Amino acid sequence: MQSTGRLILLGVNIDHCATIREARYRDYDRTHGEIVEPDPLAFAFLAERAGADGITVHPREDQRHVKRSDVLRLKEHLQVPLNMEMAATDDMVAFALKVKPTYACVVPESREEVTTEGGLDVAGQPERIERVTKALQDGGIKVSLFIDPDPAQIKASAQAGATFIELHTGAYANAYYDAGQRAEECNRLKKGAVLGHELGLTVNLGHGINYVNVAEMREVPHVHEMNIGHSIISRALLTGGEEAVREMKRRMNPGLF
Ligand code: PXP
Repeated sequence: MQSTGRLILLGVNIDHCATIREARYRDYDRTHGEIVEPDPLAFAFLAERAGADGITVHPREDQRHVKRSDVLRLKEHLQVPLNMEMAATDDMVAFALKVKPTYACVVPESREEVTTEGGLDVAGQPERIERVTKALQDGGIKVSLFIDPDPAQIKASAQAGATFIELHTGAYANAYYDAGQRAEECNRLKKGAVLGHELGLTVNLGHGINYVNVAEMREVPHVHEMNIGHSIISRALLTGGEEAVREMKRRMNPGLF
């Protein structure tokens, strides 16, 4: 693989480690220890060991995967920066000010969506986003706004006082197997990154980045960090699955394998 000549940081989103835990232990009174697994903190530690530059979590209002208690434990034990994705609500701002993650990435959030579907509408609610941004920054938290690669949203993000934008790569990822649309979406991201950079913003990318499309995404100019979750957790299942089965068989039949 050819080097890009510049280091792009990797933020590992561990939400779906918690999704697997919740599939079994949703109604349990504890979130880790004893029989409860997998512990997102354990996954965060292995990601740190493997070179993750940051850990990202999205405690949603309904706490469907990552719980607020997970976020507090991560903040206490991580060595790399914690990036907390959050809705622009007073309740989440209060929680962020309690946690004090290094970064807060403000995202749109509706209860019905499976994952974060579109970017935050900064241009449509400038006062609110500016207020949230300032409250977080006054608490010593660096603020990123998760937006579509739309010039109006990028300009509004700079006006709102954010230092970072995370360009939503979902539309690009979804269009990957349609050559024309993919090129169009890739271009929007590249132009968006250039505009963000010109406006003094630090540009991150996130959503739907995987082991295939990362080859193209790393060519987007000025990218500081990519936040990647689903594909890494999926890959971990597939690369670790064989060993997990082997070990169980060995423990069932000690001395035979
Ligand atoms: N960045 C943001 C703002 C997100 O909301 C998500 C999804 O939670 C991601 C990055 C990671 O997306 P994926 O899980 O598709 O890699």
